[in-house]
Amino acid sequence: MTTRTPLVEIVSTGKFLPPEVTTNADLESLLETSDDWITERTGIKERRLAGDSISAADMGASASFDALDKIGLDPSDINLIILSTATPDRLLPSTACDVQALIGANNALAFDIGGACSGFLYGLTVAEGYITSGRAEKVLVVAAEKMSSIVDWSDRSTCVLFGDGAGACVVQASEGKRGIIGTHHGSDGRLAELLYRPAGGGLSPLTTESLQRGDHLVKMSGKEVFKNAVRSMASASERALADAGLKGEDVDLLIPHQANIRIIESTARYSGIPMDKVFVNVDRYGNMSSATIPIAMDEAIEQRILKPGMNVLTAAFGAGFAWGAIAIHW
Ligand code: ACO
Repeated sequence: MTTRTPLVEIVSTGKFLPPEVTTNADLESLLETSDDWITERTGIKERRLAGDSISAADMGASASFDALDKIGLDPSDINLIILSTATPDRLLPSTACDVQALIGANNALAFDIGGACSGFLYGLTVAEGYITSGRAEKVLVVAAEKMSSIVDWSDRSTCVLFGDGAGACVVQASEGKRGIIGTHHGSDGRLAELLYRPAGGGLSPLTTESLQRGDHLVKMSGKEVFKNAVRSMASASERALADAGLKGEDVDLLIPHQANIRIIESTARYSGIPMDKVFVNVDRYGNMSSATIPIAMDEAIEQRILKPGMNVLTAAFGAGFAWGAIAIHW
């Protein structure tokens, strides 16, 4: 077990979901697919798409304002902004700096982290380190994802899975027993090409040919991702719970990364957590990469499912491969 003094807690959450809803029926008119296929394999019924006028930074800023407003915190009181995204608005500078400018958090240090779908949990752990080492007091951890901008809309095996959205939370030292009580994170870069974008970075800059081939868009080996996701989320959950001195039966609520209902059900089963203790909204939003967990937390609070005193487990898996789990005494 890791010794933690002080504990670091989430004191507010916020979210932004673009208003445009795209249902499975809408996709049937664009692709050779069906509501039945998508629902049976993924549990997804609809997703939100940001469209041309809403950027990842716009979504991140709206989610941040939501989290700040709920506790009446002025943006100038934030010391650090950590932003997770797989879909930065620009390759340079960071989307975190764009969010900083949009919300007016002028006293903050701001940077992006690239943990793909696990990025929000990585961000929380980095925030915990900054706070416990005395380098920051109030940290905004943001996850903003415009997945619609990087999926191949002609590839039916990937494009039906994803959606857009942003979540944010304010994190600070706890005066009591609430906060992060267990963590485990892992990565395996040898498996990078099972879920990646081949071109567009320094290794393979965009050319007319690579753009035409769609090499800048997401490529995924679905079955391999599925197997690794279940294995890694279950083992990270077990290790994060062990770090917290807890077992599966002590968990009051599991808030997993929302990629696919079958991944969620398998993770819960391996972790010994019944589905009535699992928060699910993948049916309404699809996979919004690292934004799924903070959005789910915010909805669980709104719906009075997530309440003070609960032992909460979060777990995620994504490109890298990179995964993690965090246990929180809420
Ligand atoms: N509509 C209809 N048919 C489709 C579609 C679609 N949208 N997509 C694929 N198919 C077809 C395939 O062409 C194939 O047809 P064939 O048998 O004639 O060749 C058939 O359906 C089965 O395809 P599979 O790829 O074998 O389907 P599978 O059962 O593996 O399900 C899926 C695919 C849903 C992608 C699954 O592998 C999965 O969920 N993987 C995890 C992916 C994931 O969640 N990625 C997100 C990023 S990582 C993360 O966030 C955890």
